[in-house]
Amino acid sequence: MTPLNAKPEARRDARWMKLARAHDPILHLHCILVSELCACFSAFLDLPRDQQLGLTRAGLLHDIGKIKVLAAILQKPSPLTPQETQIVQGHAHFGHEMLLEDGETDELLLTTTRDHHERLDGSGYPRKLTAPDISIAVRIVTLCDVFAAMTEPRPYVAAMKWDEALAAMAKKRTRLDLDLLAAFATMMTAINFPKKRFSLFQDSTRRSSS
Ligand SMILES: [Fe+2]
Repeated sequence: MTPLNAKPEARRDARWMKLARAHDPILHLHCILVSELCACFSAFLDLPRDQQLGLTRAGLLHDIGKIKVLAAILQKPSPLTPQETQIVQGHAHFGHEMLLEDGETDELLLTTTRDHHERLDGSGYPRKLTAPDISIAVRIVTLCDVFAAMTEPRPYVAAMKWDEALAAMAKKRTRLDLDLLAAFATMMTAINFPKKRFSLFQDSTRRSSS
């Protein structure tokens, strides 16, 4: 239960998470993991306290637009059709619009929600931004999101161990910030992050990574 004296943003975050949990429990768990990673990584980078809190919120809400995507598509245990892929990719835009309509004014939160699928080489979406237009905050949320997607179990994805995921991410050298990735890898070793997370599903086959 949210405390009666909670700040307005805490109340809004709790409401969004309640909606996410009701829509898709896997989405809910993903948001919690990305938030945890953003909190750890921003503290490890010794960012200012307000940015640490902002990134923790950003991790929690980055995928909130997925509550506008049918759960049957999010949970589909086989490859998505091009049309379904397009619908899922709409979540970045949906999330940004939903937060704006809810009166959200936190620029870091709005930007990371809209841009967390952008990639440094322009291969991302929705705006095909390139490195100069992708902020450090977005790059941090993106790293945490990709890492979470690779290491958490889903009905259609076999979870990777975190060192395997980091190795796979390093191969995306034109897409991700390699300096941040190196720092992230150092942090994961330093905090002795569990090599493998809990498993909700068995007999998974990998459909895609983030
Ligand atoms: Fe996303």
